[in-house]
Formats: sequence, structure tokens, C-alpha cells
Amino acid sequence: MREPGDARGQPLWFVVLDEDGAWREALADMFAAGDDLRMAGGTGHAADVERLVRDNGADIVLVDHALARRSGLAVAADLARRLPSVRVYLTSHAPSRPLWEEARRRGLRGIVPKPFDRPALAARIREDEDLDQRVAASLAAARGGAPEANVIPGGAGDEPGAPRLGGVGDPPRTLAVCSFKGGVGKSLISVNLAVAAGSPTARHRRAVALVDAEEGVGSTAALLGVVPHPTIEDWAEYRGERCVDPVIAAQKLAQTRLGLSCVFAPGALDRSVDGDVMETVLATLPRMFGLTVVDCAPAVTPAVLVALRAATTVLVVVEPTLDCLDRTRKGAAALAAAGLPTGKLRVLCNQNRPGPGDFSPVEVREALGLQVLGSLPFDVGAKRSCNRRRPLACVAPRGPFMRSLCRVVGGLLPGVGEAPPGRVWWRA
Ligand SMILES: Nc1ncnc2c1ncn2[C@@H]1O[C@H](COP(=O)(O)OP(=O)(O)OP(=O)(O)O)[C@@H](O)[C@H]1O
Ligand SMILES: [Mg+2]
Repeated sequence: MREPGDARGQPLWFVVLDEDGAWREALADMFAAGDDLRMAGGTGHAADVERLVRDNGADIVLVDHALARRSGLAVAADLARRLPSVRVYLTSHAPSRPLWEEARRRGLRGIVPKPFDRPALAARIREDEDLDQRVAASLAAARGGAPEANVIPGGAGDEPGAPRLGGVGDPPRTLAVCSFKGGVGKSLISVNLAVAAGSPTARHRRAVALVDAEEGVGSTAALLGVVPHPTIEDWAEYRGERCVDPVIAAQKLAQTRLGLSCVFAPGALDRSVDGDVMETVLATLPRMFGLTVVDCAPAVTPAVLVALRAATTVLVVVEPTLDCLDRTRKGAAALAAAGLPTGKLRVLCNQNRPGPGDFSPVEVREALGLQVLGSLPFDVGAKRSCNRRRPLACVAPRGPFMRSLCRVVGGLLPGVGEAPPGRVWWRA
């Protein structure tokens, strides 16, 4: 791992703002020499810091939290804003997680516990640098700036001779999977779509987040075979914020062994998913992931409405019955009346029960006046996969359901789940 020091191997220079003169002198002695970190100057006055930084070309500013007249955090945040290319840290005798989160939220790199010595400061800076690099890499992948940046290393597209992405650097997408009737297959579709899109064998592998917006049921976690934690309630403290720092957000996501990052819904029916919190979650995740899938509740709750508004595309799942089509027509009309652009609605017909469907996709399109992506067949493997808590995308990626799902959403998500033959990447 690289020691602190800039890309040319020069030491990093820091300026200290601390009212304790003895501590400043101790630091000056400690960091008078060395090829990794050097002290460029110290002061007890906030007004001097900017000049010291500019005069010395400093890379780092360390601000003591315990300033007499102003909060060190506020001073540090101010400096971070005015000196965007300088890394500003808070130093504190009482570091805590909430303080670290608040510091990150206000643009600081982190907190250095006091007192510190050279190895401790070097380790702190190195850790934060690694963290920021990891987040920057995931943001780059999510944004798809360069075509290849959107392919996660290890995907099928990276193997010699394997199919490549083909230059598609698609922007982050949010898919809300909704319906106006319960039990039509939303969760089955959401989970398997998310797993397939993030699969290492996908032609175009994406960084994927899955959000469960249906409180009390827990079917998303059950289908994945994982414990439903953390939940959206763990994001409640960020309610009303535009978006959450990706480093903090990453700790409020469940990391599953399938490579998916998830936010689950609360397990109790009396704990609803808060619409404002959902808004923050859905503003944050597209900055970190190429694809965010939201498994909606069968009713248009406030959280579902937020998801439908935030979505780049809304997948409306229907079963081919008159009752379901009637409800869907009324539901779509209500959404249009609520100001949702119906142009982003796409219908998916799902044969969630055995027996012939009552309506063909063409008839569904005529009945609803909405664009229909296609049909998913009844698949006997679905029940088995649910009972065994292993997604179809893992155990039967080329079964009837998955083949159809990847085909019908292929226009929205090019290269989804196209596993090269003979490559099994997941076992029980
Ligand atoms: N194409 C299919 N083939 C076989 N079984 C299916 C298919 N689609 C859905 N099912 C089954 O239908 C049942 C309901 O599916 P699911 O839980 O995904 O529906 P939902 O719309 O999420 O329900 P809810 O409205 O309660 O959230 C499950 O047992 C699922 O396995
Ligand atoms: Mg469901």
C-alpha cells in the first residue's frame, strides 16, 4: 500500500490550526523532517490558515475540534469549502462515529484522534485515501464516464475472447417495479433482474442496488436468502437531505454474496417506509450504482410514489387477466393525474400462474394504451427457487423465466444476464 506522499514521491505538507501552543510545538518537532509528512506551519488563529496553506502550498489542514470561540467543525467545513483541493481533517480528543459522519457530510476527509504521532497520522491519511479511491472507482463505474468504466472488473466482458460491452457507457438507471394488483411477480422480477444485471457472467456487468419498498413482507430478502438488514429505517437520520455521502451510504447497505447492495423494508407492518427517506435513498444510490431496482408495494404508498417519480423507467407488472388489466388502467390514469409522466411506464406481462394467459401482449397494449415490453412465461422452477431461497438468476439463468426476462428488458439494459455458456459462478 502506498505511503502518504504525493504522486511524485514528495512529502505531503500540512498546516495545523490548534490553540494549544505546546501541542503545535510538539508537532513541529515531530514533523520537522521525513519523506512522507511534513509540517508546513501552525497557528492558533483561523484567519491565518488560508494564507499559511497558500504560502506553503500545503496539501492538508488539521483543525482542532475544541477551538474556544467557534466550533472547530464549522471552521474546518468553511476551509474545506474555500480550499477544495486541500484535504481538511478535524483533530479531536473525543472522536465518535456521529462526529465523523457529520464531518464527512460537511466536506472533510475525516477525523484524526488526538494526540497522534507520525505513524498514526500517516495511517489515518492512508486509510481515508484508500476509502476515497474506492468510492471514486464505484462512482466512476456508476456514471459510466468511459465506456469500460461501466464494466466491473471480473465480468464476462473482461475475459479474453468473451463478448465485450461494445462501447455502451449508459447513464445510471433507476427501475421501479410496480403493479396495481398484489402477487403478480414484482419481487420475483426485481430480485432476478438485479442479480442478473450484477452477475459476473453478464456481458455488461453493472454495479446494482436493490431497494425493497414493501414493508412487513420481506419477500425480497427471502428470495435472496439473506437477513433483511439494514433497512430503510437505518437511513432515517438523513431524512430530508438531498443525498448522503457515498462513504456513509455504503455502510447503510446490505452487501449480499451475490454482489448486490440492498436496502430492505422494515419487517413490521406498523412501520411504514417513509417517503422522505426514500427520496434521500433514491437520490443517493444512482450516484453509486449503475442500476438501482426498486421492488414496490402493490399499493401506491408515499414511498412508492417517490420511487415512481425518481425512476428513469417504471416497469408495470400485470398478469393477463381482466381484473388486473382493469386495475392497471385505473392505476395508470391515477398516476397521470398525479403528474407522473406515463411515457416512462413499460408493461411486463407475467404468467405467474399455470394455464394459458387470457390476453396476448398486443391485446394488453390495446387495453392499456401503454408500451408493452413483452411476456414472461410461467416457470415451474420459480416456486422451487423461492422455497430454496436461491434466485432463478443463479440456479436457472437460462431457464424459461430468466431467458424471457433478459430478452424483454434487453432494450432498457443492454447485455443484462447474458451468461456465456458453461460458466457457473454461483453455488450453494
Ligand atoms: N413467471 C412465474 N412463474 C412461476 N411462478 C411465478 C411467476 N411469477 C411469479 N410467480 C410466483 O407468484 C408468487 C407471487 O410472486 P411475487 O411475490 O414476486 O409477487 P409480488 O407482486 O411481489 O407480490 P406482492 O404484491 O405481495 O409484493 C410467488 O410465489 C412467485 O414465485
Ligand atoms: Mg412483492
